[in-house]
Amino acid sequence: MKRDLVTILDLGRDEILGLIERAISLKNEQSRHAPLAFKTLALIFEKPSTRTRVSFEVAMYQLGGNVIFLTKDVTQMSRKEPTRDTARVLSRYVDGIVMRTYSHSLIEEMARFSSVPVINGLSEKYHPCQVLSDLMTIKEYKGEIEGLKVAWIGDGNNVANSWINAAIRLDFTLHLACPNGYGPKGDVLERAKERRNIILTNDPISAIRDAHVVNTDVWVSMGQEKEASKKRQAFSSYQLNEELLSYARDDVIVMHCLPAHRGEEITDGVIEGPHSVVFEQAENKLHLHKAVLEAFLK
Ligand code: CP
Ligand code: NVA
Repeated sequence: MKRDLVTILDLGRDEILGLIERAISLKNEQSRHAPLAFKTLALIFEKPSTRTRVSFEVAMYQLGGNVIFLTKDVTQMSRKEPTRDTARVLSRYVDGIVMRTYSHSLIEEMARFSSVPVINGLSEKYHPCQVLSDLMTIKEYKGEIEGLKVAWIGDGNNVANSWINAAIRLDFTLHLACPNGYGPKGDVLERAKERRNIILTNDPISAIRDAHVVNTDVWVSMGQEKEASKKRQAFSSYQLNEELLSYARDDVIVMHCLPAHRGEEITDGVIEGPHSVVFEQAENKLHLHKAVLEAFLK
């Protein structure tokens, strides 16, 4: 039975921890093995990507497989071929599909009609693989994930939503500080409100106080360019700067999924400073994606 990775809620607690352990051991492993020899992964991306695309492609090559990278406009999806038909056709050629889309429902529909695993490489609603590799980074730096205080400062966006799902599966405390009107919404908000380990606030200082981990992300996500000036105003007091960071624990780690906009959501001093782990975090996407591909495409 094929399984999809559309949201973190597709995984149980032990599966998440198992993927992280496997990714850490793949990272430290010298020998190469080829469990995905002769397998092919299609990547269908509607939006730009540096890290997710390259790390999935390299992960697939390092596991012995091949990739086909497609933008939506080079396929017949650009001429309105139904997603359900595309899913059924691609399933007969490839062994897995990674999708990056605007609409989350496009990934859900692809997963519903595909007979091979569909992995979410970012939608407007979720970015599950990002948060899985971020959890791996926390595990490496802190030894454990559960029991920690994790702060999210900024937009209640796709990455924040995946952090909420992670806090539903794992027992850490998640404090999200978002401006009014920019917090999580809909079913994600409803789930967050049911959990005592998820705290929603408008106050960045209370969110970051004594945090072990602090996360932020761009104020203007891909596809929101028209809202840029309004959002920059609404988020002006949510910058992760040296002053705000001083409220966290002395051994706090600073995370950002990248790309970052220095001078907006984070200062140059913080992202280049001693607490920042952003490049290790970026590297870990490769290792975690290998663990995901191994588990889902085998
Ligand atoms: N963090 C992340 O998903 O980066 P890309 O947009 O470069 O893939
Ligand atoms: N929230 C950002 C994440 C980029 C990796 C976006 O969707 O553009």
